[in-house]
Amino acid sequence: MIKPAILATLTLALAFFALSARAADPAAGKKQYDATCIACHGPGGIAVAPIYPNLNGQKEQYLVTQLKAFRDGSRQNPIMEPMAKNLSDTEIADLSAFLAQLNPK
Ligand code: HEC
Repeated sequence: MIKPAILATLTLALAFFALSARAADPAAGKKQYDATCIACHGPGGIAVAPIYPNLNGQKEQYLVTQLKAFRDGSRQNPIMEPMAKNLSDTEIADLSAFLAQLNPK
């Protein structure tokens, strides 16, 4: 018979695994993108002006890395740093998943 304490530990471990393995949610990313990022990076990730980069179809992992770099200041840009400063890991994952699934143009 499995002891209750072991069972509780296993249940916790499983719950933690389920949480940390949360898949990125592109729909949540789109919502956030359309509320803020769209002002510069444009509808569907096609930038509104030449000074802004297109983001449509960019590699997901690259986007995650760049957004974290802006957030921690290791990539410096006076416009993007404040945009990324308050993003959570979850938001970064969702935004990146959304942008990566758009067709490159
Ligand atoms: C006010 C305009 C503006 C807004 C709003 C904005 N960005 Fe940016 N973004 C920029 C500029 C300018 C750059 C280029 C920075 C550089 O030269 O390093 C950039 C660069 C980036 C890059 C790096 C692209 C690459 O090819 O390396 C990513 C990723 C990015 N933005 C994502 C976002 C996301 C996600 C949001 C919304 C949370 C957002 N941006 C909101 C202006 C903006």
